Amino acid sequence: MEIKMTNLTKIFTSKNRKEVHAVDHVDLVIPSGKLIGLLGPSGCGKSTTLYLIAGLLRQTEGQIFFGNEEMTDVPPEKRGIGLVFQNYALYPHMTVRENILFPLENLRVEKKEAKERTLEMAKLVGLEEMLDRKPKELSGGQQQRVAIARALVKRPRVLLLDEPLSNLDARLRLQTREEIKRIQRETGITTVFVTHDQEEAMSISDEIVVMKDGVIQQMGEPQDVYDHPANLFVAKFLGTPQINVFDGEIKNGTVLIEGMEVGKKDLPDQPITVGIRPEGFLVDTKGKSSFRFTVDLVETIGRDTTLLFDMLDDNAALLDRKTFKAIVDAGYRIKTGDLVHFTIRPDKLHLFDKSTGIVL
Ligand SMILES: Nc1ncnc2c1ncn2[C@@H]1O[C@H](COP(=O)(O)OP(=O)(O)OP(=O)(O)O)[C@@H](O)[C@H]1O
Ligand SMILES: [Mg+2]
Repeated sequence: MEIKMTNLTKIFTSKNRKEVHAVDHVDLVIPSGKLIGLLGPSGCGKSTTLYLIAGLLRQTEGQIFFGNEEMTDVPPEKRGIGLVFQNYALYPHMTVRENILFPLENLRVEKKEAKERTLEMAKLVGLEEMLDRKPKELSGGQQQRVAIARALVKRPRVLLLDEPLSNLDARLRLQTREEIKRIQRETGITTVFVTHDQEEAMSISDEIVVMKDGVIQQMGEPQDVYDHPANLFVAKFLGTPQINVFDGEIKNGTVLIEGMEVGKKDLPDQPITVGIRPEGFLVDTKGKSSFRFTVDLVETIGRDTTLLFDMLDDNAALLDRKTFKAIVDAGYRIKTGDLVHFTIRPDKLHLFDKSTGIVL
């Protein structure tokens, strides 16, 4: 089921009459059968967007369509959605079986069919052995899978997940996200997965949507968005360690940081913001490149060495201390205090307009 939002806007008015534009003129098409990761910092409007799709909130402006069907006046229970929240509220006194089956009782589904569907869902989420247990006898990840089964048993047209993994520890989180991906693939249900964790969104989504202050910044396949960020915000939001950001300039078609050449760009002379991914630094062992720094800190983990540089060393005129990170092969055996020359991989060099932050 395709979900389409046109000019979707939600304005909250708080007691002091201040307006919050939680969702701001959003135009978005979520393709049928895909898993979309809705991603952005706290307060950017992810949950609000989800609740608008669910019909738990009513938009201030704009429209939502499921397929060709306009949803504005359709109440939540008639929209055919399955919802899973961060705080999965299972009924503690009911067994897993009863928890999954519960929505079907409300829908007055015939007993035999309800039983079959419950078993089918328990199998799908891998809990058929645990149908007679109570929630407190399950791990956090298993409980969350019960919540997913309960959301799916109604055979919704759309599955909406709001930070479903944030209560789980790191390992369970990883495991459960793979599980969600598998369940989504097997059912082919259009799914919107809300998270503020970029790695989580990147790893399971067919496409990610990056949001900031209620406004969509970019939508695309995770790797495409990572490789071609539309603006500085998106570039900084995706990737660990974060992209390094420098004040730079374009002069005669050459990209300069502190007067040192890092690349070429056929654009008029201008001050710019330069982003370099940590993995974009290539060690120039011949020492020919003018782009060079003295290493301030070395962290080696396995095959990778992370080099930390303090830009103050090379330009004492800078007021605030700025550090940056380069990830290089541990084989170089670089030590603190070494002067390292770099060339920059062109595909890891991102240039942004100094004032707007939009990619050049
Ligand atoms: N009922 C409400 N009344 C007033 N303002 C609200 C209400 N609900 C949300 N907001 C505001 O709308 C904005 C978006 O909130 P939302 O809950 O959608 O953010 P989010 O992206 O889900 O954040 P988080 O990652 O913290 O869950 C925030 O500024 C929030 O304070
Ligand atoms: Mg939220």
